[in-house]
Amino acid sequence: MGSSSLVAAVAKRLEGKVALITGGAGGLGSSTAKLFCQRGAKILIADVQDGNGHLICEELGHANASFIHCDVTSEVDVQNAVDKAVVKHGKLDIMVNNAGIMGSNKTDILDNGQAEFEHVYRVNVTGTFLGIKHAARVMKANRGGSIINMASVCSVIGGVATHAYTSSKHAVLGLTRNTALELGQFGIRVNCVSPYAVPTPMSRKLYNLKDDDPFDVYSNLKGVALKPEDVAQSVLYLASDESKYVSGHNLIVDGGFTIVNTALTMFG
Ligand SMILES: NC(=O)c1ccc[n+]([C@@H]2O[C@H](COP(=O)([O-])OP(=O)(O)OC[C@H]3O[C@@H](n4cnc5c(N)ncnc54)[C@H](O)[C@@H]3O)[C@@H](O)[C@H]2O)c1
Repeated sequence: MGSSSLVAAVAKRLEGKVALITGGAGGLGSSTAKLFCQRGAKILIADVQDGNGHLICEELGHANASFIHCDVTSEVDVQNAVDKAVVKHGKLDIMVNNAGIMGSNKTDILDNGQAEFEHVYRVNVTGTFLGIKHAARVMKANRGGSIINMASVCSVIGGVATHAYTSSKHAVLGLTRNTALELGQFGIRVNCVSPYAVPTPMSRKLYNLKDDDPFDVYSNLKGVALKPEDVAQSVLYLASDESKYVSGHNLIVDGGFTIVNTALTMFG
């Protein structure tokens, strides 16, 4: 392959693929939706924010991007979203279970109510489970597909977020591993991406930051800041055929944050 055709192949590495992205109307999901379209995929955004979802599709062009109202805690909604992708485009190659919530930032367990704890689980864990289940339903028939779940550094360490959020993201990692093992027999890959803090509406709310406030959180890696587009690139890798033998993997995008205990390190 000549160098110009290699560049073209990389630029359109999702050409011919159909992707469904939950939570694609905001934050990391919308960055992923935009990057997937640039790389040639047909995408369906499934979200509860109808206004934003339609705006993004308008921006990306209705030939490539469409929106469906979908609350990931509802099995009927998730089933309809998957079915819409198949009816519109004939198949589903990529499922990104990205929708997630943080819940309120309470640091005392005595202030953590059962209803809110369970709501975080319904969106983060049940929503991911339903997305995997219905994607698998249609991917099995095609003997292949790539499912990517949005976890977090909270899937592997404690103390960064609330009990509900941290334990729900540990559960997303467990679901990723279990379903990767079951679905491998059908050629379906299941992976998750685990970002460190990235500036999005969710994290700005967590740190009480306005839209234009600088996003200044601790980073192990100096001179570079994690952006939503960087997370989208990791999702793109797992979605594309370049990762065809990668399954059950947790791709941690954290500049090395989770591999050190800063209380005891010889590197200052
Ligand atoms: N921003 C970060 O620092 C960060 C870090 C690690 C992991 N994550 C994870 O990345 C994912 C996206 O987070 P974000 O920062 O973009 O958040 P965000 O709040 O900016 O966007 C989340 C999107 O999900 C949608 N959503 C929420 N509940 C939904 C539901 N029940 N059904 C369908 N859609 C729903 C929202 O409408 C929104 O469009 C989440 O799973 C989050 O836990 C975020």
